[in-house]
Amino acid sequence: MVQKAMLSCIWTIFIFLLTIPADAATGDFEAWLQAQEKISTERMLRNVSPPDAAPGAVVASPEKLYPNYFFHWTRDAALTMNTVVSLWQSATPQIKLNVPPTLRQSLFDRITAYVSFSRQNQLTPTRSGIGEPKFYANGTAFNEDWCRPQNDGPALRAVTLIRFANLMLDRGEDLYVKTQLYDGRTPSQSVIKTDLEFVSNHWRDHNCDIWEEVDGEHFYNKIASRRALQDGAALATRLGDVGAAAWYTAQAQQIEPSIQQHFDAARNIFIPTINRVAGIWYKHSGLDSQVILGVLHAGGFQFIDPRILQTMKLQTESFRNLYPINKVGVSGVGIGRYPEDVYDGDKFQGGNPWVLNTAAFATAYYHAAKESLDNGQRDQAKRFVAMGDEFMKRVQYHANPDGSLSEQIDRNTGHMTSARDLTWSHSEVIVAIWGRRAVVGGL
Ligand code: NOJ
Ligand code: NOJ
Repeated sequence: MVQKAMLSCIWTIFIFLLTIPADAATGDFEAWLQAQEKISTERMLRNVSPPDAAPGAVVASPEKLYPNYFFHWTRDAALTMNTVVSLWQSATPQIKLNVPPTLRQSLFDRITAYVSFSRQNQLTPTRSGIGEPKFYANGTAFNEDWCRPQNDGPALRAVTLIRFANLMLDRGEDLYVKTQLYDGRTPSQSVIKTDLEFVSNHWRDHNCDIWEEVDGEHFYNKIASRRALQDGAALATRLGDVGAAAWYTAQAQQIEPSIQQHFDAARNIFIPTINRVAGIWYKHSGLDSQVILGVLHAGGFQFIDPRILQTMKLQTESFRNLYPINKVGVSGVGIGRYPEDVYDGDKFQGGNPWVLNTAAFATAYYHAAKESLDNGQRDQAKRFVAMGDEFMKRVQYHANPDGSLSEQIDRNTGHMTSARDLTWSHSEVIVAIWGRRAVVGGL
């Protein structure tokens, strides 16, 4: 009892001490979205093929010290480059984008450099092979201890590059595709086919999760693998690699029951990890943003699926009370990785809300809104947009005045913390803004 009272007293002081930029909350939200889209695009692109890295490398952040994020992570890079492919194409799967023609050539150059850099990563001897999670920005192997392999990496890289391959085929660039991207040979000398051969033969393996902390079987990694194999089968078919197409399709189908094992029927949610082998052991809640990130990055579920909505709801509620800043300023909830998290980018003194997760939850509700609208449920769609906006207003509230976004938001002070200008934060914010635009026009 006494302890409880003391705790709540401490929390009150924390809340009292919160220092948050006052103008952010009152600023016009739509204007902020427009401005932030530009700033995030610019800051994301600064980290793609930056001058102090090898061409094609995507650094997770320009920060080299606390924490040192000046590495090419396969996952962060693949997700970022998917956003870059949208910019180059001047379209997402749902909307057209206005990208100046002068920028498009430089985007194209960065994508092809990323293709070559990725192939070089595959050829570089590392401790875990194709599932190696990260490389130095100059492309050399990172040989220190790390949670490895992380098999979502090759799956995500395949998804991004298959999309690029299809766009190149649409433009008649068959030679480039068949030599650099998908050569249809085994063993393959091309990046996509090498990834697909790996994913199709290894999706059953236990490996590390996207937060690089738990070795086991993960929902995210499985649905990323399934998506890579489905898209891979379609590309193989388009290029006449018939046997491979059948093999990838068969493997994609076989993942299905293993994905269903992540369903927690009692709570009607999906849980991140089963059959844990090693790594942190204290994630007892079974709540983890990586489930929603998985659906965003890999598809395979609708966002209006009651199981997905419930997964988001329970996560949101768990974070609402956990982080003091969620009680301040705006009503949107800052979303962390999982409630038990202690990683603050540096000292492991307690978890924080993350920009990329908060933006991802916004995107998820915008997609739910689009699905509702497509089903003729306009009022429901409006409610979902409003829910998505709450999350984006939380990001707005804590963004630095110059629009830079770090990895995390300090749970007590509300200030940006951990790696500055995290590439993935900017990418996820851009994707949220696009997701919103894809539905609000129709409302
Ligand atoms: C660094 C990883 O990037 C982070 O996700 C993790 O929480 C810590 N290492 C602890 O393993
Ligand atoms: C730590 C995150 O947990 C992980 O997902 C990410 O790949 C790295 N940071 C680099 O951004």
